[in-house]
Amino acid sequence: MLNYFPQELIDQVRQANNVVEIVSEYVSIKKKGRNYFGLCPFHAEKTPSFSVNPEKQIFHCFGCGQGGNVVTFLMSHEKLGFVEAIRLLAKRANIRLPHKESNRQEMELNDRLCFVHQLAVSYYAGNLENKSKGKRGQDYLRSRKLSDQIILAFHLGLALDEWDGLLKAATAKGAEASNLLEAGLIIERSDGKGYYDRFKNRLIFPIFNLSGKVVAIAGRIVDEKDSPKYMNSPESPIYQKGKLLYGLNFSKEEIREKKFAIVVEGYMDYLSLYQSGIRNLVASCGTAFTSEQARLLARFAEEVVLLFDSDTAGQNAVLRSVDLLYDAGLDVKVAVLPSGYDPDKYVNEWGASSLESLIKESTSYVRFKISLLKDKFSKLSLREQEQVVLSFVQTAAKIGHEVRRDLYLRQVSEELGMGETTLRKALKSVTSKVQEGRSTVAETVAKPGEYVWEREFLAFMIDNPAWFKEADSQIDREDFSIPSHKELWLLAKNEYQRGDGLDMADLLEATDNLKLRQLMLELANFDYPRQETSAIFSDYVQKFKARRRERTLRSLKEALKEAEQEKNLEKVQAISSELQNILRDSRLTIQAD
Ligand code: CTP
Ligand code: MN
Repeated sequence: MLNYFPQELIDQVRQANNVVEIVSEYVSIKKKGRNYFGLCPFHAEKTPSFSVNPEKQIFHCFGCGQGGNVVTFLMSHEKLGFVEAIRLLAKRANIRLPHKESNRQEMELNDRLCFVHQLAVSYYAGNLENKSKGKRGQDYLRSRKLSDQIILAFHLGLALDEWDGLLKAATAKGAEASNLLEAGLIIERSDGKGYYDRFKNRLIFPIFNLSGKVVAIAGRIVDEKDSPKYMNSPESPIYQKGKLLYGLNFSKEEIREKKFAIVVEGYMDYLSLYQSGIRNLVASCGTAFTSEQARLLARFAEEVVLLFDSDTAGQNAVLRSVDLLYDAGLDVKVAVLPSGYDPDKYVNEWGASSLESLIKESTSYVRFKISLLKDKFSKLSLREQEQVVLSFVQTAAKIGHEVRRDLYLRQVSEELGMGETTLRKALKSVTSKVQEGRSTVAETVAKPGEYVWEREFLAFMIDNPAWFKEADSQIDREDFSIPSHKELWLLAKNEYQRGDGLDMADLLEATDNLKLRQLMLELANFDYPRQETSAIFSDYVQKFKARRRERTLRSLKEALKEAEQEKNLEKVQAISSELQNILRDSRLTIQAD
């Protein structure tokens, strides 16, 4: 790896790419103070602890500890080798890099695995193109109505009915058997003497990662007698099944534009729909979503429409992961095809616009789930009914978006004919179990008013440290109503006094207290009114003052009561004149305001 590129060139490439720009292509980040914050792409989380620092050109996750610069971000996120990451960044910045294709030994493992996949894909595509050898495959794909453009665009291919076609072709082009083996493209013979191809007599569907590199292969039988119907490459350093969604690299822009993603099951479904012009979709490949896949999708979509065959809808694997989809912030709808159809067959027989209107009519997940139960629900035992209700409520608990959660509950209530209050009570007990020890933005919103504006104020102060000195002279730790706010105020004060302003990233590092960190991360996403800062600031100060006054009044009134009970006339007089003074002062300030 050493000296593959000269260091100056690497520096040049790094400097030409802004870490904020690159990261925001993958993660939705929002500016808060000097840094940007968002949900960490490297671990599952609900409050953003992933920060990007534009001045230092670094990223850092306070939750999982991952951090680095623009190059290492691409390497970990896209599973690229160093060389590949540099190449990609150079290309973006229009910087020319020297080509050294003969230097394959120096490439990192990931590069080599991608390289052998490239060889394999072009070998299989060549087979399919071949007039005589590829005829079976061509005939088959034609019978499935796939156009030449789709075949080319998705690099479809054919593994012939031989044991070592790929092995021979790839090694002739310089591939090492060990790399083909690690990529899962060949298999070691059981006697240990040599290898044979994994894919034999199969149609080849390359599987692409988000940046469009082939990282694995799926092979479908050509001969319906063979089995299994699909065979997939095993996992490898460049291919983790649960982290990838088939077709997302081709569809991400359309998904982003339309704001929703259609989820189909199979490769063939994906390709047929794509060919028909419906392009905002991904294929789940017959498995349940992982939370990583859900979050991946949530980067591009706000809503998913699960498109199911009516026959298998109830048993569909994706249904097992619906909670994960909600968890990732996606809304979930379901469209069901008429009996006997899968998306591929439907679009071929009825056309794209018919399918599109079916998708438009998709129902909410609740309605769908209930329709699966149909009249069964009333026939279930009480215990079973309770289970059903509980499972709905558990899903509701996952919906972070308050309005959406409300609408969801209302639907459950309507469809099951159950009181909303009962459901809400159940939700409360579920959430308190789920969220024990965890504070979320949703919870914050539900808290009494005074906590909220205190938080707004804290968020405002962190974003506008210029006001800190003034604030410090007017507001005291004891002015805050709950301990975590008091603590954060102290922490911020100490940080500010250390001299270089206030910064969320610094603040986060200034404490080991997890609760406090949680609070800060919530604040990073908190909105305070966006008016002129001096107006906002004095608003908050007034609020603190008013509350202080109220507190004093309250304690004076109590003292007055006590004095009256004690019949201590002197004390009564002293307290009431103090009370008068305060009341007069406050009237004056209110008039002056
Ligand atoms: N699948 C798999 N292994 C199998 C069967 C299915 O990995 N033995 C996955 C594939 O990703 C497949 C998806 O599950 O695309 C859906 O299965 P199915 O509907 O049977 O496949 P289709 O893609 O619709 O293929 P075809 O229409 O050619 O039967
Ligand atoms: Mn099918």
